[in-house]
Amino acid sequence: MRPKSRNDFAIVILCALPLEADAVESHFDETYDRLGRYYGRQPGDANSYINGRIGKHNVVLCYMPGSGRESAASVLSSLRASYTGIELVLVVGICSGAPSTPNDREIFLGDVVISNTLIEYDFGRQYPGGFQRKTGEKGILGRSNREIQILLNGLMADRTRSELENKMLKYLHTIQQAGTKWRCPQINDVLFNASYLHRHYKQTSSIGCCCSESGSPDNVCEDALKQNCNDLGCDKNQVIRCREPLEAPKVSVHIGTIACADTVMESGQHRDAISRMEGVIGFEVEGAGAWDNVPCTAIKGVCDYADSHKSKSWQAYAAATGASAAKAFLEYWMPPNREGQYTTCPQKFVYTNICY
Ligand SMILES: *[C@@H]1O[C@H](CO)[C@@H](O)[C@H](O)[C@H]1NC(C)=O
Repeated sequence: MRPKSRNDFAIVILCALPLEADAVESHFDETYDRLGRYYGRQPGDANSYINGRIGKHNVVLCYMPGSGRESAASVLSSLRASYTGIELVLVVGICSGAPSTPNDREIFLGDVVISNTLIEYDFGRQYPGGFQRKTGEKGILGRSNREIQILLNGLMADRTRSELENKMLKYLHTIQQAGTKWRCPQINDVLFNASYLHRHYKQTSSIGCCCSESGSPDNVCEDALKQNCNDLGCDKNQVIRCREPLEAPKVSVHIGTIACADTVMESGQHRDAISRMEGVIGFEVEGAGAWDNVPCTAIKGVCDYADSHKSKSWQAYAAATGASAAKAFLEYWMPPNREGQYTTCPQKFVYTNICY
């Protein structure tokens, strides 16, 4: 049944790109309202909302006018003026991924990363010899609040995680049947050597570009960044991992630290350094601002490897896997029990709001 007012919505899903919001909306079991015609919003709130139901939860889907932390923070403050009963924020969409997790599980394109900790990697000091990230409490934007932390810990256990993955695949399959754009691209998933740059290797034109300047091996011209690996002549021998298109897509879920910055990570070597130092599995540019005070986690499909070879080919598929994982995640989320006591949950054992 359609909730009476805005205040009956407890879950918000934040997306930065229309593509991400589309993927989430494809998972609505029911749409109550589009763009505030029925539920409206507080004066001064310029956000766009789509209200609906996913499974047993009423959710409000909100998309941000642009990406970046400032944007997420201001969107969220308007949102909380219009929706006063919010208990959970999911930042859903796509992000860049590290090639593997700290415990050596490989991460492939289309896999999903869920954050239990968020760090800010551009927070630190620039020294003449390089940038030093401030570690310790200051650089940590947030650990998800206790309820989410307990749920994520539960989901990290092998069997629960594979149950989550199976649910996710079921939902993925459903939206792929309805829309072909969500299907897995039929191209190889390639990972280049981290130190191998995406730049002009073929003698393409007579125009000199900084790629070919000898003595500056780290230069990549802007034009090169807009072209694909084939056109530039990126060397296939520098590919260190390649997965061919699979008959049945395999999608894994990884739970861990996501790093956030206002700059987009496009360097394999920096990626690996941060990943090694901080155990980072994903890189993104929005979300961080959303973290303060509200229980929040990011659920993101990996669309590239945070290096200069990134292309957009995997974005739609990754948006679909991220959104499918969010729907599966919501099956495990129980609204907080306001009395803070044990409650009974059908068939399962429950402590506060977590169902195992
Ligand atoms: C990547 O390239 C560097 C420099 O050419 C080389 O030293 C290194 O062994 C390569 N790494 C892998 C994993 O192949």
